[in-house]
Amino acid sequence: MVKAKVWILKKHFEGFPKESNFELKEVDLPELQDGDVLVEAIYFSLDPYMRSLSKMFLKEGDVQYGTQLAKVLKSKDPEFPEGCYVVADCGWRTHTVTKAKGPRGPILTRIVSEWPTDIPMSLALGSLGMPGLTALYGLEEVCKIQPGQTVLVSAAAGTVGTVVGQICKIKGCKVVGSAGGDDKVAYLKELGFDQAFNYKTVPSLEEALKNASPEGYDCYFESVGGPMFTAALKNMKPGGRIAVCGAIATYNDTTPQMCPYPHHEIIVRSLTIQGFMVTNYKEKDEESVKRLLTWMKEGKLKTKEMVTVGFDKLPIAFMKMLKGDGLGKAIVKV
Ligand SMILES: NC(=O)c1ccc[n+]([C@@H]2O[C@H](COP(=O)([O-])OP(=O)(O)OC[C@H]3O[C@@H](n4cnc5c(N)ncnc54)[C@H](OP(=O)(O)O)[C@@H]3O)[C@@H](O)[C@H]2O)c1
Repeated sequence: MVKAKVWILKKHFEGFPKESNFELKEVDLPELQDGDVLVEAIYFSLDPYMRSLSKMFLKEGDVQYGTQLAKVLKSKDPEFPEGCYVVADCGWRTHTVTKAKGPRGPILTRIVSEWPTDIPMSLALGSLGMPGLTALYGLEEVCKIQPGQTVLVSAAAGTVGTVVGQICKIKGCKVVGSAGGDDKVAYLKELGFDQAFNYKTVPSLEEALKNASPEGYDCYFESVGGPMFTAALKNMKPGGRIAVCGAIATYNDTTPQMCPYPHHEIIVRSLTIQGFMVTNYKEKDEESVKRLLTWMKEGKLKTKEMVTVGFDKLPIAFMKMLKGDGLGKAIVKV
């Protein structure tokens, strides 16, 4: 019988997550039935949504949810033969017996067959996976960017933000990014951002945005919320578009932040503000991953990973990711 180590969400988060929110357990796995596969985790992805959507999807005592890159060890599903690699929505478990689909949609997604041997498969959790697709869909489907436009990106040194900036350059746009450290600002410039600033040290966000693009912004790729959103509204060009991707500055709040009422800016600038989920465009994923892969092979899309080793380190690495500590996509290697 195969045993799995699992991290349980012992207690719902109140404010910033703590190690005591989690508990490590060992469980026995069932024998495989028709349609089942046994997968073994290789890498875990740590993403901000695991904090923001936690109460919606989990009850105390459930396995902490999240995505992993895994290898199929045994299979009773011909679509997922032994030895193939998958992105698996199985949560924080070393081993899982699962069907390919669950009540909320696909649990297993095969890595595209054209995956080049010289590109690490862990990127299927980062720039070449869900976060990369989020960047692409936010720009193409929501902002509908055009060459020559100016795009503002917050959380720009994060996984989504770095891909947003580089796609903007591929598509002939000017791009300005905000990040929370001088090392991050330097990295954004290395990636080709036209302007970047440290939102933690500038005297005024509004002035920093004005200085970076005095003519204003056609599009804002919003991932932060709070005061950054208000400052961005005041710097949008008439008819500007805002893709609301996330609000990471608010995920650990115990009481909601009160922002200034933004109606005036939205009305006089005739802004379009649209929220979106990466899953809205699921049918485009396979083709879109191939486009991202092509850009990476051409050297137009670069990425960094911040890898922590050890299944037992998952909670610590999760908290580090939420604080924005370090540079690169947060990954845990088993
Ligand atoms: N809508 C969707 O379908 C979808 C899909 C994926 C991700 N998202 C959202 O996209 C955003 C970015 O995700 P990601 O995968 O790029 O995450 P990531 O790689 O973990 O990066 C997150 C970034 O947020 C910044 N950050 C953390 N706390 C912050 C705060 N209080 N104020 C401002 N910035 C802060 C961090 O660095 P610095 O603060 O040091 O700059 C970090 O670079 C998140 O809001 C996430 O929820 C949405």
